[in-house]
Amino acid sequence: MFRAKITGISGYVPEYILNNEELSTIVDTNDEWIVTRTGIKERRILKEGGTSVMCVKAIEELLAKTNTKPEEVDLVVVTTVTPDWPVPATANIICQKLGMTKAWGFDTQAACSGFIFTLEAVSKMVESGKYKKAILVGADKMSSITNYTDRNTCILFGDGAGAIMLEPTTDMEYGVIDCQCYMDGSGIENLNVKRGRSEYPLTKDTIDLNEQYIYQDGKKVFVKAVKGMADVVEEVMKRNHLSSENLNWLVPHQANKRIIDATADRAGLSEDKVMLNIQKFGNTTNATIPLCLWDYEKKLKKGDNLILCAFGAGYTWGAVYVKWGI
Ligand code: UT7
Repeated sequence: MFRAKITGISGYVPEYILNNEELSTIVDTNDEWIVTRTGIKERRILKEGGTSVMCVKAIEELLAKTNTKPEEVDLVVVTTVTPDWPVPATANIICQKLGMTKAWGFDTQAACSGFIFTLEAVSKMVESGKYKKAILVGADKMSSITNYTDRNTCILFGDGAGAIMLEPTTDMEYGVIDCQCYMDGSGIENLNVKRGRSEYPLTKDTIDLNEQYIYQDGKKVFVKAVKGMADVVEEVMKRNHLSSENLNWLVPHQANKRIIDATADRAGLSEDKVMLNIQKFGNTTNATIPLCLWDYEKKLKKGDNLILCAFGAGYTWGAVYVKWGI
């Protein structure tokens, strides 16, 4: 019997900062509206290259921190909605760029819940004992699918990557303890990329309509996100006898500070137990959760109880209980 233990965490955000003031010169918006409604002050933008550029930077840091040689890695899984190419997988590109000659891997897609869903999958693979050093990287270059003339979406998204190392351990106390994931397809019309897909490949007309970019009916998604995140957090907390006292950290997907606050309230958690970096990075989709862990790494203590949770397009939602073991 093995447990999948998180043995390293790293992150990367591009240097370029797009703040609310600069955005207000591009679309009809303002700092006060964005901060009040979302909690976002600024986001990072990758000017050159694809998502793998950020994955590689994050993984380089992870390898250094965990004292791992590229050829020791046996599994690399990338969760992203903005792969470098539709074909081949971004994991493949990363293996090649970093010289991970003994690894195999693949990409997954579950919108903003990708990191939670894929953590469940990869931890089960690691629990088998077959994979000794598995890397999960959540990364998105959201700027590549964001329409900077649409104020409903362009204020929200940013670029970034976060990675974790997972290793099997016989010490059952630490690691990925429990997970609950859901998807129901009820929100497909409310959050999507309409064109440039198998049913509707890109044409000149759809490009003229900006339909290759992300679309969101924010209000509809908001209502579902508040309920979905709070419900699944409650479910995983109850099942694992966690309370507002013995839960040390909530690590929520960073889509909107108001959704995060509502989830924390339902769990009875004070602000100091909630990881937050939406103000500086915005919604980086698959990177928000590992970037939070990376940001708060110094505050984490061995034995801390963490609940990671997310809600995203589809709809998809889920929560993971981790006992921190570093
Ligand atoms: O990560 C995946 C899951 N996604 C989410 O969880 C996101 C969920 N949704 C949200 O976070 C919020 O719905 C948004 C932040 C996207 C929007 O906030 P909202 O409070 O739902 O605003 P709204 O779209 O209902 O717009 C309210 C008002 C409207 O004006 P009127 O009709 O009341 O006069 C909008 O036209 O604010 C206006 N508005 C803006 N004003 C300035 C909308 N966007 C902007 C803007 N700047 N960027």
